[in-house]
Amino acid sequence: MPERVSMDKIVSLCKRRGFVFQSSEIYGGLASCWDYGPLGAELKRNVKDAWWKATVQERDDVVGIDASIMMHPQVWKASGHIDSFSDPLVECKSCHLRWRADEIAEGACPKCGGELTEPRMFNLMFKTHMGPVEEEASTIYLRPETAQAMFVNFENVINTSRKKLPLGIAQIGKSFRNEITPGNFTFKTREFEQMELEYFVKPGTDEELFDYWLKERFEWYVKNGIRRENLRLRQHKKEELAHYAKDCYDVEYLFPMGWSELEGIANRGNYDLTQHSKYSGKDLSYYDAENNERYIPYVIEPSAGVDRSVLAFLIDAYREETVEGETRMLLSLHPSLAPIKVAILPLSRNEKLAPLAREIYTNLRSSLMTQYDDSQSIGRRYRRQDEIGTPFCVTIDFESLEDNQVTIRDRDSLAQLRVPVEELEQTLQAKLRGEPFDVSPLWATRQT
Ligand code: GAP
Repeated sequence: MPERVSMDKIVSLCKRRGFVFQSSEIYGGLASCWDYGPLGAELKRNVKDAWWKATVQERDDVVGIDASIMMHPQVWKASGHIDSFSDPLVECKSCHLRWRADEIAEGACPKCGGELTEPRMFNLMFKTHMGPVEEEASTIYLRPETAQAMFVNFENVINTSRKKLPLGIAQIGKSFRNEITPGNFTFKTREFEQMELEYFVKPGTDEELFDYWLKERFEWYVKNGIRRENLRLRQHKKEELAHYAKDCYDVEYLFPMGWSELEGIANRGNYDLTQHSKYSGKDLSYYDAENNERYIPYVIEPSAGVDRSVLAFLIDAYREETVEGETRMLLSLHPSLAPIKVAILPLSRNEKLAPLAREIYTNLRSSLMTQYDDSQSIGRRYRRQDEIGTPFCVTIDFESLEDNQVTIRDRDSLAQLRVPVEELEQTLQAKLRGEPFDVSPLWATRQT
């Protein structure tokens, strides 16, 4: 079992290599807000693409939407967020730091030991005003979850998609919560992204489909590279359940600070559509033509955090190894998530090597995220690519000019394979799809 990496190492790698920067850093930073740099933006996009592919693209029973962040204020009244989306807040009477009452063990300030105020409920929604007048009537909220857009669009989607239940509506987008205690890098922030699915089902089939989604979502993390032993499912206790939930499990990951929530999977019953029917005056029941019956669907909701997933994928991929007496740091990311798929590395900056190396780079980059690097020694360039998780490096040497063959180096095994330039892209694509590195059918065929 490899030693667990500390959060400090991950934060430092993220800054050093351009995955994540502190927001507004030149002004001293904005607390708990983060910017994804060039590699982080690629990684995050790949995580979202992998989720969308598994949840929408590869399924007949799920469609996607992309809704606005600002919604009618009544949405949040109906959903229960205005009345119940709150955490108990206490303030230290000496140092004035604020804490979540349910997160501190003793009745004194964890920072200075000072006396605390009585808890008061603090609503986590960010308020703002719509239009040029700042008055009570113009108050709106930044959405604290993407889910509500799927409920209020249920009728629109049913009427336009010509689909029957069970039917899922999926969305990826930003959410905002004025968390009392953000922290642990990108784990808990006030602005974050969610990947949510609201899966509408016939009442009575909900428990079976809830179990189905628990398995699906757990396996999605494993399929994309997280080690099974670092994941677990934890059922919520009765007193933990959100006001809408009939049952709920968290997919937890073994983060450096301990087991913590990566994704919540809830059986929301018919709470949401019932509430929105009541508040909007619209009948949101579903007519089941096959059985000639009408009912308010139940909802199974797998709700994942993009930022938490990115963090978990980074942590799980982090390795330190000793190779020939030297420490090698690598990110063993799944190829589908790796920000850069292939690095083109001419052996040296010699002008004879550049034309072929450049040509290969230009040909590959329309289909694969490719980087060209001819600075410093080849060893240093390999290490740089290992550190950012690039699965394959392609080296062009002087022999390549004679035999038109190049060397592919595998990040994880360090194995090398020599292939003709005309077979390079096909070979790389096959390896990126998971074909073992030591067996190349293309290459084997050529040898016989
Ligand atoms: N619609 C249900 C819902 O929003 P949640 O458990 O509150 O459920 C779902 O949030 C996921 O969103 C969490 O498992 C987590 O991955 C992510 N998330 C929630 N709050 C977050 C925060 N403050 N910072 C980063 N991610 C957060």
